[in-house]
Amino acid sequence: MKKIIITGGNGLLGKYLKIVLENSKWQIFSFGKEILDVTDKENIYKIFKEIKPDIVIHLAALTDVDYCEKNPEIAFNINSKGTENISIFAKEFNSFLLYTSTDFIFDGNKGTPYAENDIPNPLNIYGKSKLEGENFIKRYCQKYLIIRTSRIFGKNGKNFGSKLPLILKEKKEIFLTTDIINCPTYAFDLAECIKKLIEKEFYGIINVCNSGWCSWFEFGEKMREILKLNTKLKKLSFDEFSKVFNVPAKRPKFSPLSMDLLNSLNIKMRHWEESLKVFINEF
Ligand SMILES: NC(=O)c1ccc[n+]([C@@H]2O[C@H](COP(=O)([O-])OP(=O)(O)OC[C@H]3O[C@@H](n4cnc5c(N)ncnc54)[C@H](OP(=O)(O)O)[C@@H]3O)[C@@H](O)[C@H]2O)c1
Repeated sequence: MKKIIITGGNGLLGKYLKIVLENSKWQIFSFGKEILDVTDKENIYKIFKEIKPDIVIHLAALTDVDYCEKNPEIAFNINSKGTENISIFAKEFNSFLLYTSTDFIFDGNKGTPYAENDIPNPLNIYGKSKLEGENFIKRYCQKYLIIRTSRIFGKNGKNFGSKLPLILKEKKEIFLTTDIINCPTYAFDLAECIKKLIEKEFYGIINVCNSGWCSWFEFGEKMREILKLNTKLKKLSFDEFSKVFNVPAKRPKFSPLSMDLLNSLNIKMRHWEESLKVFINEF
């Protein structure tokens, strides 16, 4: 039986992945940071030596984009150096390494969806630190898969998209931006796709998101409609939003990821609106 280590196992995607992989043909070792801290090389070595993983799914990261902007040292230590540490031991134990990266490695100026071979140009510390992580993996490992995704939402997630149903229920009115556009991705769908890509033994870089794209305003509108709420949604540009709410990190304005490569493998992701309905039911 192949053995899989998951880092960042208590995070949003990690929890869904554990459920999706639970009854698979693989033996799953999912660790939160209390047990497997990716900044602690000795700790990683000890765990890898004991388990000798065939596959490592490296999800651990500092994902709060604005916190990263204010704390670049911490962000680079976890997202870049932490990924270097994992790459070194994945290489040493001859494990296949899977890493989840982000649309935030792009500047958003292309005007059409980003393909896997487009040139990155991150605008913020989070994007820079995740891109460095990608580069460490390419430098150390031969057997790797970098999955680029965006705006993950799901049950008990700490991020804005996951908390939005609650915010819509509690507030009379909220402000949402109209000019930050990318692909929402339901954590369950992403986890299922990760399972398929491991089964296919696909290596390299690939984009995985729900199909379609939208602004935060459109996302909120759809959510409000499904929840049948009357919360007032107010439109703001991202520039106005950053000033009013003191948001330090820049975001790419248009960063949908192209699903052409994924579709060519006969893997289709459903539309984000369909997944949003499933999430709201689950919520
Ligand atoms: N969320 C998105 O929209 C999005 C988009 C594109 C790519 N991604 C990538 O997808 C992956 C999963 O994201 P997610 O949404 O599941 O994020 P998440 O919920 O924030 O999960 C990340 C997990 O990593 C843990 N972690 C932080 N520092 C660590 C350390 N030093 N050692 C080990 N674990 C540590 C966090 O623990 P604590 O919470 O206790 O610190 C958290 O449980 C990440 O690599 C992220 O960069 C996410």
